[in-house]
Amino acid sequence: MISCPDTLSPEDFTRAVDAAIRDRRTRKVLAGPGSDPMAFQAALRDSLALAGMAPFHFAREDEVPEPWRFRAFVGAGLTRLRAELDEADVLYGKLPAIFDGAGAVVQATWLPEGRPERDWEHLAASASAVQNSFLAMHARSFGSYWCSAPVLGKAVANRIFGVAEGEAYLGTLFFGAPLDPEAEAEVGFPGKMHARRTSPAAWSEWIDN
Ligand SMILES: Cc1cc2nc3c(=O)[nH]c(=O)nc-3n(C[C@H](O)[C@H](O)[C@H](O)COP(=O)(O)O)c2cc1C
Repeated sequence: MISCPDTLSPEDFTRAVDAAIRDRRTRKVLAGPGSDPMAFQAALRDSLALAGMAPFHFAREDEVPEPWRFRAFVGAGLTRLRAELDEADVLYGKLPAIFDGAGAVVQATWLPEGRPERDWEHLAASASAVQNSFLAMHARSFGSYWCSAPVLGKAVANRIFGVAEGEAYLGTLFFGAPLDPEAEAEVGFPGKMHARRTSPAAWSEWIDN
């Protein structure tokens, strides 16, 4: 029996989970941490802890078995990160506006073992950890954006983000309060695949005999 929180009926629990999955969407430019930066940081901490509930199949052989690593930059840490990336000429195009709008930036990496038969599973598990964090932040009324701009995964950026030897780039995750609808329409930049989704019939099969 799968349990739901005591305070919700099973139907409300289902509706809430479905809504979080369905309504989450990419918000590239955000409105900083919002009116209560401490509440935002607490939400991010909880969401990263929930990211860690993602499934993973093989324990790594060091002390930390999970194949993902997250480095969260907030407050003065985010200001310093932004300044160092600027100084190193890493930010181009829309990235300055995206960094300016972020309440937090999380550098996400994963740890290949150099064994292709396992590495794809480490990567798949790490991606599901990212999605957990997005859903958890969405459920707390914060927006997110998964950016994979190659420049943010290169050696110069790795040094600034403090990425360790052996870690591979998974993405730069931006979190923050959503913009108001007018600003969102003007500068928010939605995900270009958001409206490209097809019916499940296009990519799934139902075999029942
Ligand atoms: C692995 C991954 C990398 C992504 N990298 C970028 C990126 O570098 N630039 C970008 O504009 N969007 C990026 N996105 C966001 C997608 O464009 C977005 O998720 C997609 O358009 C669907 O929109 P939705 O998230 O609102 O449903 C990335 C998404 C994923 C899953």
